[in-house]
This record gives sequence, structure tokens and C-alpha cells, in this order.
Amino acid sequence: MIDFNAATRTFNLILAGSVYAFQVDGEGRLVHLAWAPRPAGATDDDVIDGRNGFKAADSVASFERQTRRDEFLTFGDVTYHEVSLKASFASLPRDLAAQEALHGPIRDVRLRYASHEVVTDAQPGLAPTHGLPTSDPSPRQTLRVTLRDTVQPFAVTLCYRLTPEHDILERWCELENSGQEAVTVEALNFAVLHLPKGATELTSVYGNWAREFTTQRERLPVGIRVIEQRGLQTGHFANPFFLANWPGQAWEECGPVYFGALAFSGSWRITAEHLASGDVRIHGGYNPFDFRLDLEPGQRHVTPAWVCGVSNAGWGGASRRLHAFTRQRVLPRAPGWSEERPVLYNSWEATYFDLSQAGQVELARKAAAIGVELFCVDDGWFGARRSDLAGLGDWVVSPEVFPGGLNPLIDEVRRLGMRFGIWVEPEMVNPDSDLYRQHPDWVLHFPSRPRTEARAQLILDFGRPEVVAYIYDALDRLISQHAIDFIKWDMNRNVTEPGSTAGQAIWRRHAAAVYAIMDRLRRAHPHLSIESCSGGGARIDLGILTRTDQFWTSDNTDAFDRIRIQEGCSLAYPAMAMEAWVTDVPNHQTGRISPLSLRFDVAMRGALGIGANLNRLSQAELDECAGYIAFYKRIRSVVQQGELYRLQRLEEYGASAVQYVLSDQREAVYSLAVRDHQIDQHRPPAVLKGLNPSATYSALDHRGQEVYRASGFELMTQGMIDDSGKGIGYSRTLHLVQVEK
Ligand code: GLA
Repeated sequence: MIDFNAATRTFNLILAGSVYAFQVDGEGRLVHLAWAPRPAGATDDDVIDGRNGFKAADSVASFERQTRRDEFLTFGDVTYHEVSLKASFASLPRDLAAQEALHGPIRDVRLRYASHEVVTDAQPGLAPTHGLPTSDPSPRQTLRVTLRDTVQPFAVTLCYRLTPEHDILERWCELENSGQEAVTVEALNFAVLHLPKGATELTSVYGNWAREFTTQRERLPVGIRVIEQRGLQTGHFANPFFLANWPGQAWEECGPVYFGALAFSGSWRITAEHLASGDVRIHGGYNPFDFRLDLEPGQRHVTPAWVCGVSNAGWGGASRRLHAFTRQRVLPRAPGWSEERPVLYNSWEATYFDLSQAGQVELARKAAAIGVELFCVDDGWFGARRSDLAGLGDWVVSPEVFPGGLNPLIDEVRRLGMRFGIWVEPEMVNPDSDLYRQHPDWVLHFPSRPRTEARAQLILDFGRPEVVAYIYDALDRLISQHAIDFIKWDMNRNVTEPGSTAGQAIWRRHAAAVYAIMDRLRRAHPHLSIESCSGGGARIDLGILTRTDQFWTSDNTDAFDRIRIQEGCSLAYPAMAMEAWVTDVPNHQTGRISPLSLRFDVAMRGALGIGANLNRLSQAELDECAGYIAFYKRIRSVVQQGELYRLQRLEEYGASAVQYVLSDQREAVYSLAVRDHQIDQHRPPAVLKGLNPSATYSALDHRGQEVYRASGFELMTQGMIDDSGKGIGYSRTLHLVQVEK
């Protein structure tokens, strides 16, 4: 609900469990008032009426600190801190030009309230254009507040879209140049979030290839902490979300926790600013590194969204809000696919580049026999791609690998009752490819400078419309000529020499072009499903997830490492989109040997996939796999649609216990995996959450056998079955179903 008090010009954005308020002050500036969980017992009539406006502290004339909490901070007047916008004007409006001589561009923006409106179904920048619905397509309200510069014909509209049921606000801004000359934008955040004073405990993730989503929790010192990616994809080094709280006042399931996630896969930055005054501001938007945006006369620029919220239920509550929002409002729903993700088989670790028609058919038969629903052929099926040294860019089926084309394999996969998927890496080219030989100028580079290769490949210049059109056509042809249900869209290197015909705009254009190709493909092939991959988990964010159905979490498939990677990933992203495979031992990335039970128990925490070489498994092992896959299908709706509770976190217990529970409380899934264990260490039994205390639950193992029976009350007080003494590598998954006493 959006409440506006015309007397005090105060806005209240009222969500299920939180409120966000700001006000137009006496000078027309938009000033933040509050963002907080709603106190228990508050009704829709309880709002902040704006009589008690915010007083900026420390207005010492000569050494002022900018403590006024502007909803949008501009470079202009007092600018000692991070800003939302820095822009410059090359000239004065005509009526003023006669009065004063210019001595250079005017680097000063002063925004004052002009108008506001509430609209339905407003869209942030880079919103999907594929036309597919989300699980919940019901309309939402957006408050648009337009601010105008006091002198220049330049306006900024701040947008606030409300998803009240998930306590989510999406914030973005729209710049509009209605003058006669270009406006140069040098820095642009989508929004700034004013946290309450002292909310300085910050949770974020960092990592690298095969080591994504390492959680770090730190106390912000006074100063600036930057979380960022300077690149063309979201990146391995960090992921664009944060959680923040007062130190010591929030925990996994309690206390107010603020959170934000950027819906953007380009060069991004989150800047957490802790001022000496105690103020905490979290800015999110375009990375200012090599940034430039020229807003031509008459042009508008709409930024992507900064998705944010506050939960009173700890880090877990913050995660659950992001998960539910992503499941219901972000992920697309393609016709013909069920609400739940299918069990996938991917041949990458089984065969690498050693592909053949017969080999894939053999794998497909074994995959179907154990219950796989989607069979995906990975890298190596096209052009001269017999290794990673050649072929990228030539998206035609290799007759060497598939002499009869792909269709015989696809027919067999379909005959076996599975859907068919295929790997592509559309943004790339190997210099050893027909595409590069024909168009050596189509890659990002600076003339006369080296073109640095990584994994023997260069990046196509998606700033060139003809390149984007060529890649779209190649993919469209591939999908039109074959019954392809699914593509795994990969991106396997970081950028160097970002020289593009689009100039510095390439940092935004590249992501926009990837989005545009995906959207167009989905429009043309509505049944198509897409997985986002970038050397594992380097393209996971709420922007790409509006046009993909799932993501490849990490190239690291070691079950022990996956416990940690998936736990970090779960801070922001839902299990249903988190693809997780069971692969061979020794693990190909770490050399570690882990039991099949652990590999399944960990992979079943997300969208289950199989990446093992099925030809190397004995019939007994295949039967065991089939048993687990059948079990996963029984618990899948709970894992993929349920609410997630991290009952025991690795950092505290050396083990991870998680629970998923359906909103009607009839079913839950409990999953334990032990990564570290010391002799004489006893973990307390995990205490469950969110169950019906008066109901009785039967806990069934993967064979369907009851191993425990207890009431919801007991499970939520005394706890789960006692596994406290179990050692490294122990795991179990239990399906809890309500039964008669
Ligand atoms: C990346 C992906 C892998 C696999 C290879 C193929 O590393 O993350 O899953 O597809 O590329 O080259």
C-alpha cells in the first residue's frame, strides 16, 4: 500500500512486515525518514505522518558533513560522500546563457520535487521482453516521484515497486534529458539505501572459479567498503547482494536484517558507506570504473532495479524473502514445463570433448533408466571444437561427431521420454574458427594492441548490432532445426581490452545484448528453457534470472566443497534454480572421494542433476542412483517450492543442516551433511522450524522407510533424530510427512 500525506508531503510504502517512508522537505528535497520492520500489532492506519521530519546533524558551516538522508544523492552543493548521480551539462539554458559566461561543463545537479504518481506494472531497465509470465503475474503498484533540476531541463524519476507479500521493494531511477545538448553521466547508482545508524554488520560473498559464494561477515569500519565486479558478467569474485544488521542483534532466525540484490549482470558495484556520524548507506548500481553514459537530447535512461527489503527474522528471513520473490516474481514460466525443475543429466564430466553419437546414446539410455528427465549434451558438439582450442563461434553441428546430424540423438532421447538440451557459449570465439577468420574485427580489442586470449578465446563485440544479429540467427537456426528444449548458456572468460564500437557503454551493452538475445529466443521458442552458466557460477543475479530458469552453481562438484558453496548461494538464491550434480569419484576438481550418499544428499538440496559417467558405474550403483532420483522426485516440490531454514551452519557446527517446509506445513525435508567432525564433538540435534506443533510427522529415508516419528512440537523443541556423533562425510535426507498420530 502506498500512503501519501498531502499536508506533510510524506510517503509511506507499507509492506506485509515492513515500512519505508520519506518526505518532501521545505526546500523540495526528497528526504528519507525510516525503513524498518513494522512493530507487532501495527495496522494499515499506522503510518509515519511526517510531523517530525529528519534533522541533519552537525551542520557546522565551514566543515559540514552531509548527513541529510536524501533519497537520491547528487554531486552538487555538498558532496563529500558517495553520490547516486554525477552528471555534467555542457551549456546553460538559453535564457540564462546571456547572463553568465561558461567556463566549462557544469558539474552540479540539484533535484527538487516536481510531481508523483502511482502506476501499475512499471518496469525497471533491462526488464525481460520475452513475454513469458512469472509464477505470480498479478499487478503491482509502483510509486514514481519525479525530481527536476533547478536550472537545467533534466529530471530524475525515482521508482519504488512494491511486492508487499514478500516485503520487497524494487528501486530504480529514470533520467530524462529534455534539453538541447547531451548530458554526460559519470556515475550512476540505481538507488541508495539508508540503513539505521549503526547497522554495520555486513554479510557478502566472495570467491573465484570453483570457489564461489564464500560467505564473509564483517563489521564495517568508518569508511567505504566496496563489493564489485569490473566485467561483462556478474563474476566469480563477488555476487551483487548484501545482508546487513546491527552487530550482535541479528542471527540466523532472529533480529532485523536489511538486504539488497542488484538485478543486473554487467559491471556492478555495491558501496557500503559508514560515515563518522554513524550513518550507513548502501549504494548499488553501475560500476563507476570506466563508466560513461551520454544522455542525448530527448533521451531517457532507465536503470535496472536494486531489489531490497528488511526482515525481522534474521538472515534466514532475509533469504526466504528473496527466495519467494525470485520463485514467484522473477523466474519465467515457460509453457509445457512444470513448476519444478527436471532431473538433468549433463555429459561434461563424463566425456569432456570425447563426444560421439554412439557414446551419447549409450549415456542417454542409462540416464533414462535411472530416472533422468532432461539430457544435455555439453561442449564439443559443433564446428572444429574437438578441444577448447578451436571452434567457438561456429554453431553448426560437427559431422565428425554426429555424422547424421543431431536429430538421431534427439529422437532417441525423446523416445526414451526425456527432453533434450545443448551447451552453447554464444559470446565467444576461438581465433581458430571460421567466424574469426571471416571477421577478425568482431572481437573486443583496441586497434594495434594485443588481444589477450583466455582459454584460447576472445570475446565478441556485442556493442556491434551486426554481431548480435549474427549470434541470434545462429542460435535461432540451431533451435529451429532441432527439437531443443533447453540450452546451457555459458561464458568462460573474464574481459580484457574492452575496446568496442560502443565505447565505454560496452560495460552495460554487453549484458543488455545477452538479455536481448535470450528474450528474443524465448519469444520465438516459448517452450525453450535456459540455464545460466559462466565457468560455473559467474552469472547468477536477479537480472539474468528474469530470463533463465536455473543456473549452474559452480564447476566445483565436490560434495564437501558444495556444502559451503551452496550454503553461501542460498543466502540470496532459491534452491529451485540452483543446479547441483552428482559426479564421479575421485572428484575431478579436488581429487576427493566422498560417498555416493553424501553426493546425493548435497545435490538434492537444489535442482538435482547427474554428471557422473554412467558407463563406469556398476549395476548396483546405477540402482542406488535410481533409488535416490525416485526419492528426489518425491521430495522435489518441498525442496524447490518450500521455505528454507539453515538450521545449522557450517561455520558454527562443521556440519550443515537445512530444512525445507511447504507453507501448508504438511511436508518438510530435513538434510544433514557433515563436513568437519572432531572426536568427542557432539552436535546438538537440529531443532526444526515452521512445522505444525500439533501434527505428527513421520520421517522417511530415501528408501521410504520410517526412521523417526515425532510431533511438530517435539521436532521444534527437542529437535530432530540425534545424529550428533556422526563423522566426516555422514549425511542424510529425510522426508517429513504429516500422519495420523
Ligand atoms: C564451463 C562450464 C562447464 C562446462 C565447460 C565446457 O567450464 O561451467 O560446466 O560446460 O565450460 O567447456
